[in-house]
Amino acid sequence: MDDLKFMKIALKLARQGLGCTEPNPMVGAVVAKAGRLLACGFHCSFGAAHAETMALQRLTVPGATLYLTLEPCSHFGKTPPCVDLIIAKRIRRVVVAMLDPNPLVNGSGLRRLRAQGIETRLGVCRARAERLNRHYLKAIAGPVPYVALHAGLSLDGKLSDDAGRARWVTSAEGRRYAHSLRGEFSAILAGRGNIEADNPLLTLREPGWPGKKLYRVVLDSNNTLSRRLNIFKEQERFPLVIFSSRNAKNMKKKVPLHFFVRHDRHGLLLDDVLRRLRALGIASLLVEGGGRVLDSFIRERRFDEIDLFFAAKIIGGRNAAQVFASGFPIDEALELEDCRWTAFADGSILRGYRKCSPD
Ligand SMILES: NC(=O)c1ccc[n+]([C@@H]2O[C@H](COP(=O)([O-])OP(=O)(O)OC[C@H]3O[C@@H](n4cnc5c(N)ncnc54)[C@H](OP(=O)(O)O)[C@@H]3O)[C@@H](O)[C@H]2O)c1
Repeated sequence: MDDLKFMKIALKLARQGLGCTEPNPMVGAVVAKAGRLLACGFHCSFGAAHAETMALQRLTVPGATLYLTLEPCSHFGKTPPCVDLIIAKRIRRVVVAMLDPNPLVNGSGLRRLRAQGIETRLGVCRARAERLNRHYLKAIAGPVPYVALHAGLSLDGKLSDDAGRARWVTSAEGRRYAHSLRGEFSAILAGRGNIEADNPLLTLREPGWPGKKLYRVVLDSNNTLSRRLNIFKEQERFPLVIFSSRNAKNMKKKVPLHFFVRHDRHGLLLDDVLRRLRALGIASLLVEGGGRVLDSFIRERRFDEIDLFFAAKIIGGRNAAQVFASGFPIDEALELEDCRWTAFADGSILRGYRKCSPD
């Protein structure tokens, strides 16, 4: 009972690092003895102290239990190994939600603790811990970042009206949601169409993300974006990354992070784009659209999560842009799992995860 109770507290603490720890994971730590919480901590930002250090640094009582949402590290990185501190603080028992798949750890943290006679338990709230660190798990396992798609839609799935007007499909509430969602990611991506039609800044303006760095990524095959657009502003805190085609007529770079990649009949190759972003250290990407870009990510099944704001209105119209333009045969339809709906006065948000085929 105590294991579950304290692990749930550790998970809540871990979540306080949301959007700020990448490419590191979010980690929470709780120290308890005889049912009493003695100390706690969390990893608050990349390069900052690990959750274990924050929780254990002032602990003087031996024989306590340590609850961790992720296996402790056993190697020297930006900070010394957490297992050394756990041993030095004479912790009696360590309860861990999930192993750290980082090849430098991957079970060695728990093995070292056991070798010192410290009792361990693995797997308490594992599913919740894995969901919390889904960006980290995807990025550490492969060459591309975690990808979430976001759009604000009418109830009938339209991104704009028949005349192409998209302002505003969603309410002020929907737009606030979209802005705060950005903070959870390391980068956001949009297509040239969206940048030229709406001239957005694509920055973080909602409170709660002071000083957070966010990459802005734009797909512009022919390298035609005008430098007068808002997207070229505020590049210090919100670095701009532009992707163009290797065959673009104008090969002059417009920003320091300008990459030339392959393309096919649909546009730039998303695989090239995603691999390059991961190589930049980006662990998670929020794709904001517009319609053509979202359709490419969906058609190529290049996403892990969908976050949709459905405004309580119907737009209709045969030519109105929609996210799911390409379509699939019914037996190949994309399925989502673990869906959560959050209702507002004038709309609802759906967050769901792509169900992967068991291959
Ligand atoms: N309701 C919402 O949530 C929402 C959100 C965003 C935008 N919008 C609206 O959507 C409209 C813009 O959408 P859009 O469909 O016209 O343009 P878009 O999706 O923003 O951009 C499409 C353009 O991106 C470039 N691109 C490069 N590689 C691509 C690839 N692999 N796949 C797709 N595109 C690629 C292409 O231009 P090049 O060939 O020049 O590279 C393409 O024409 C605007 O009206 C905007 O207001 C609505």
